[in-house]
Amino acid sequence: MQAADIPAGMVLKEAAGWNQTEQDWANLLALEPEGCWVEEHQGEVVASTTAVCYGRELAWIGMVLVRPDFRRRGLGRGLVEHGLAWLEQRGVRQVKLDATENGLPLYEKLGFHQEGTIERWGGAKPRGMCVYGVHELELGSIAALDREAVGVDRSRLLEKLIKAFPGQCAWEPKEGFVLGRPGSEAYFLGPCSASDAETAGFLILQLTLRAAAKVFYWDLFPDQPAAAETARQLGFERRRGLIRMALRPETSVSGRPERVFAAAGFEYG
Ligand SMILES: CC(C)(COP(=O)(O)OP(=O)(O)OC[C@H]1O[C@@H](n2cnc3c(N)ncnc32)[C@H](O)[C@@H]1OP(=O)(O)O)[C@@H](O)C(=O)NCCC(=O)NCCS
Repeated sequence: MQAADIPAGMVLKEAAGWNQTEQDWANLLALEPEGCWVEEHQGEVVASTTAVCYGRELAWIGMVLVRPDFRRRGLGRGLVEHGLAWLEQRGVRQVKLDATENGLPLYEKLGFHQEGTIERWGGAKPRGMCVYGVHELELGSIAALDREAVGVDRSRLLEKLIKAFPGQCAWEPKEGFVLGRPGSEAYFLGPCSASDAETAGFLILQLTLRAAAKVFYWDLFPDQPAAAETARQLGFERRRGLIRMALRPETSVSGRPERVFAAAGFEYG
């Protein structure tokens, strides 16, 4: 995939009703220029897949999309297999993804195992007073909080998001942070790591109040009841569920899941 393919990527994701923007595709391409692929038919893009590596420990597969009239012909399988072979060559130890109901049978056939559920919650802008702006953002500190929570170094991703969406973050030194970005349907809240639910709720509230948006998405793990409860308290409701899958269940990535209050997006993990 190249930058010139982004408009075609937008057509694919519109057909699936997803929330990503052109900037999201550009970020994926910038993070992994060799790890984004499209399939063409007579010069037209009909399928896509992306992979983002977090060191050698973990890679995240995303944006697995096939144009509706080209489905069930092996294109999805072909692109994901191509991606897995590329990751194998690079010596990446674990591969994960968030599977939709449509994608699940394909990934199971490729050897992925179900790990748990991730849910997208949505809500309107909560009411409250914005008191954000006290601390200057420090990438190093945020990356350390993120690493402790998710167990891998995602500083490249965090840096890209902070640069692409300046000022769209809230953080409390040593306690937690949340980043945000606009989507085509709703403003996306995440990733968010925090020491406790109170901090997470406070940071997310600050970010929603500052964001120029009316509708918000928040991807959380229902296994972490504190995250779901915090979302509920802020007026969010569950919209859909996906299955988090891992290729090698024996290769664990050990973080502190109780600190993860929002995921980074289905395309990033
Ligand atoms: C999911 C998706 C990418 C599959 O792409 P595809 O090109 O149709 O899939 P393939 O033709 O390569 O099928 C791969 C395997 O999965 C199976 N499969 C694919 N779609 C399926 C479905 N809807 N139900 C049951 N099995 C299915 C096929 O039987 C095939 O198995 P086989 O290779 O042993 O015959 C496509 O349906 C899509 O774009 N959906 C909307 C976006 C989406 O949900 N993407 C997944 C994100 S995680």
